[in-house]
Amino acid sequence: MSSQLGLMGLGTMGSALARNLASRGFHVSVWNRSPEKTEDFIRHFGESGFTGSPSLEEFVESLEKPRKIILMVPAGGPVEELLQDLLPLLELGDAVMDGGNEHFRDTERFQESYITKGVLLLGCGISGGEEGALKGPSLMPGGDPQAWESFRPFLEAIAAEDFFGKACVSYMGKGGAGHFVKMIHNGIEYAEMQMLAEIYDVLKNLFRLSNDEIAEVFNDWNESELNSYLLQASVDVLKQKEADLFLLDVISDEAGQKGTGVWTVEEALKLGVAAPSITEALFIRMLSNQTHVRRPLHAQFKEEAPVPNQTVGNFTELAEKALLLLRLAHFDQGFSLLREGNAYYEFGIDLSEAARIWQGGCIIRSKILAPLNSALKEPADSLFLYGFAETIFKEGLPALRQILSLTTGLGFATPVMSAGLQYIETLKRDRLPTTFIQALRDRFGSHGYQRIDREGVFHSQWK
Ligand code: 6PG
Repeated sequence: MSSQLGLMGLGTMGSALARNLASRGFHVSVWNRSPEKTEDFIRHFGESGFTGSPSLEEFVESLEKPRKIILMVPAGGPVEELLQDLLPLLELGDAVMDGGNEHFRDTERFQESYITKGVLLLGCGISGGEEGALKGPSLMPGGDPQAWESFRPFLEAIAAEDFFGKACVSYMGKGGAGHFVKMIHNGIEYAEMQMLAEIYDVLKNLFRLSNDEIAEVFNDWNESELNSYLLQASVDVLKQKEADLFLLDVISDEAGQKGTGVWTVEEALKLGVAAPSITEALFIRMLSNQTHVRRPLHAQFKEEAPVPNQTVGNFTELAEKALLLLRLAHFDQGFSLLREGNAYYEFGIDLSEAARIWQGGCIIRSKILAPLNSALKEPADSLFLYGFAETIFKEGLPALRQILSLTTGLGFATPVMSAGLQYIETLKRDRLPTTFIQALRDRFGSHGYQRIDREGVFHSQWK
């Protein structure tokens, strides 16, 4: 019996995705570079939905034509190597999908080398971790539209559902569009996680709440407009115990990263898009690893334990509004990157669709994606300019100012929350002190400046 689809790479994500496909009634051929893993997989999950192929040749032979193959191997070198090994075995019209966290420019490079042989390559961002891959991920495919059509029935069958019950998958655009959208998703993910970490820190170390009490606050917020997958996951993280210990209390604070956050910030710099919250979230991971600096500094500058000047109830009420505004700022930075990237690389991404397919399955799924999905059907230069943002802005800004003046005054490090506030304060100014920058640039470098009372470019003889 031929398989309708092949899947290569039986790591955590690959195995889960193969099982998801089989659970929707597809017969899948599976392959792994070490054949023992393939044997283990078949032993574990049976032969009714799967064919295990030890060699590349047998794997390719076992597939219906035109072949459809999903790669779930680590991005970069391993994908490139496998693509090279696979290409001589493929034929005109076959299609391959790279489901890793690939850099979108690598996706485009791989697509070019494949198209010379008439083989189509789809670059598909997959979000949702192991659980998502197994039960329904958010899928962000991009590349040749024909490649999308080859995989479409499979992807639509396995994806999560959006708020209206539609599959969380949509053709994002040409070239590396899919992986570009996934990269931005991860940038937003970085900012969202750091925001939650900062508010946890304040609740724990200023208001002295226990992990269970913080979980309760997060749970309440999750019932509100703040509802998000990461908030729910935070409750789980706060509650997890090992014997008498809260696991969170013994986890090292040195944060890891796999690279997509760096790529997002690199793109922000390249495209000239301000993404300060995402950038701060990335930098704080780097700072978290500087224990050799943090520890001696902490010992040298010991301070009294801070004491709050307001009740925790008052604080959490303000924080709920503030966090919603910050979330809007994170998404605003992400969508500005999508907008500019779309224009620069000519991907053809429908921003409203991106907001729709992030409604289910992915790590940044949250209630705010409902108004975003509707609003983004009309173009605007910033999410803050849409009607739905007005209340979030009006209620959130005073709240955010208050909670940050309290926490920064007491010595808390809140880089992402502060970056978000400063981003918003700057965006809402009619006239910025960058007049000063312009004057200084002309004073020492004769760079010229424009005026608001006259047309043209001016240079002055400064004293
Ligand atoms: C997802 C995640 C995932 C990401 C990990 C690790 O959408 O499922 O974004 O793809 O790779 O969360 O990312 P970092 O190691 O960079 O934190």
